[in-house]
Formats: sequence, structure tokens, C-alpha cells
Amino acid sequence: MRKIMVLGAGTMGSGIAQAAATAGFSVLLCDVAEEAVVHGFHVIEKNLSNAVKKGKLDEYEKKRILALIATTTEKSRAVEVDLVIEAIVENIDVKKKVLAELDEICPSHTILASNTSALSITEIARATKRPHQVIGMHFFNPVPVMKLVEVIRGEDASDETVEVIKELAEKMGKQPVDVKEAPGFIVNRILIPMINEAAFLLMEGVSSADDIDTAMKLGANHPIGPLALGDLVGLDVCLAIMETLYNETGDSKYRPCPLLRKKVRAGHLGRKSGQGFFVY
Ligand code: 3HC
Repeated sequence: MRKIMVLGAGTMGSGIAQAAATAGFSVLLCDVAEEAVVHGFHVIEKNLSNAVKKGKLDEYEKKRILALIATTTEKSRAVEVDLVIEAIVENIDVKKKVLAELDEICPSHTILASNTSALSITEIARATKRPHQVIGMHFFNPVPVMKLVEVIRGEDASDETVEVIKELAEKMGKQPVDVKEAPGFIVNRILIPMINEAAFLLMEGVSSADDIDTAMKLGANHPIGPLALGDLVGLDVCLAIMETLYNETGDSKYRPCPLLRKKVRAGHLGRKSGQGFFVY
């Protein structure tokens, strides 16, 4: 494994690119729009500069990491890579279409990994002619800080693919955990319903946003409260995960909170839009 394409230069994609380059891999950061890749690269530059200011990285290391990251808007450059990690929009039809395209472009040894937060890896893999080389590689936000990678095995993934991806996660300084395919995997199955429940508390007027978050920080020792966490993850992403949990299981305990839906309809998506449960 030498060269990795990260497809999607948003919050997760740029974080994954940073972690891969920091581990010494050559990275192609790809997005459809030039502005998106430029923005993604700037976020990485800013993160590394902050680390230099804090004395956690020297200027030489920063330059070495940045030199390992090239940006492109051409998916066709996937022909150069040993692994693609897609971190594009959380929509199964879009992911299937993009993976089918990558399957045509990539060399036969290339592994196709999806950073999907809740969707079916088996279904995504079936859009390609290499389902044994398709896998879920689920990172957490903020990627440079969060130590976990869920390695999700779809129905057809080979043992070799699973092992290669676990080894890669370790090289990136992450702890991999094995997960069999199930909606929301481990973390999002537990975490996102908690955020949804906090939205119900707020909607029902049980407490204020500040007090709900303070309660969970001080009463459950969480680093940030559930509403602030929803804003960090993105309320559109939270809603998409709740909908997947609900649609896949039919269990009413996963019904999305109407307040979450209303925020998303208003475009109040959290930190990335400047407003969510809180204003930024
Ligand atoms: N990018 C890079 N680094 C970041 C960062 C970012 N966006 N945000 C914070 N950091 C770094 C800071 O630079 C700092 O680094 P240092 O220790 O080297 O100085 C460190 O993280 C701590 O940051 P701060 O001191 O500014 O703030 P906090 O102590 O409040 O920590 C936090 C911030 C790490 C985000 C913490 O609040 C936290 O752990 N929150 C919970 C995060 C979480 O649960 N994430 C999972 C979300 S679910 C998910 O991603 C799955 C998806 O599918 C939805």
C-alpha cells in the first residue's frame, strides 16, 4: 500500500487525507469541485500549522506531510492508487454510482473503502465487480484526533481485505475494531440516537440546550454535550443516520426527532453552516 485516493474533500475527507499523509502515505485528495479540494487542503495546512505553534510538529515535518498530498478534480487518477477511501455524500445511490465508476478505473488490486456512517457495505460492494475488495473504513470526527476506525465487513469482503485495512488503520495511528455489517455499525447505533434523544428533550421544553449539554458533560463525563456533538457531526448527517436506522429496522425507537428534521430543512446544519442547536 503506497498511494491512497481520498474521494471527497469535506470535513471527513480532509481529515482522512491528513491522517494518511502524516503516516507517510502518498495521498491524492479528490473532489468534483476545485473550491472543495482547495478548501480541504487549507484545512489540513491550518491543522498542521496549529500543531507547529503548539510545538507538537516541526516546520520540516509539516512541509513533508503537505508535500505528500496532491489535489485533483479528476476521478480518473484513481488508476494510480492502491486504495480509494470515499468520503462523499451519505446517499447510497450516489455511493453505488461512484464506486461502480471507480471499479472501472482502478487497477485490479485496488481496494475500495467507504467511510459511510451507516449505509450497507454489502449493497455498495455489489455495485462493483470486486465485492471481495470493498470494505467499510469508518473514521470519526475530528479525524486527526479520534483514535477509532470501525472496519466493516460486508457479506462478500475477503479476509485479506479486512486484514490490509486493519493494518493500514494501525499505521495511521488508529485502533481498528471489527464490525459485521449492521445499520449504524457500533458507534453511530449508540451515539446518534443519544443526540436524537437530546433533541427530543429540547423540543419538549424539558430543559435548555445549554443545560442538556452541561448535564451530559458533568453527569456522564462526555467531552462535549450531545447537542454540541450533533452540531459537530452535522445535523444533516445525524438525520440521515437516524433515517437509515429507522428504515432498516422498522423500529420506532429510531424515529428522527421532528426538531432535528426542522433544523435540517432550515439549513441549520451545525458548525459547518454557522448555526445548529447553537450559533457559531
Ligand atoms: N481538527 C483537528 N484537530 C482538532 C479539531 C479539528 N476539527 N478539533 C480539535 N482538535 C484538536 C485540538 O487542536 C487539540 O489538539 P491538542 O491536544 O494537540 O492541543 C485537541 O483536539 C483538543 O481540542 P480543544 O482543546 O480545542 O477542545 P476539546 O478539548 O474540547 O476537544 C474534541 C475537542 C476532541 C472535538 C472533543 O470535544 C471531543 O472529543 N468531542 C467528541 C467528539 C466525538 O464524539 N466524535 C465522534 C462523532 S461521531 C462521528 O464522527 C461518526 C460519523 O459517522 C458521524
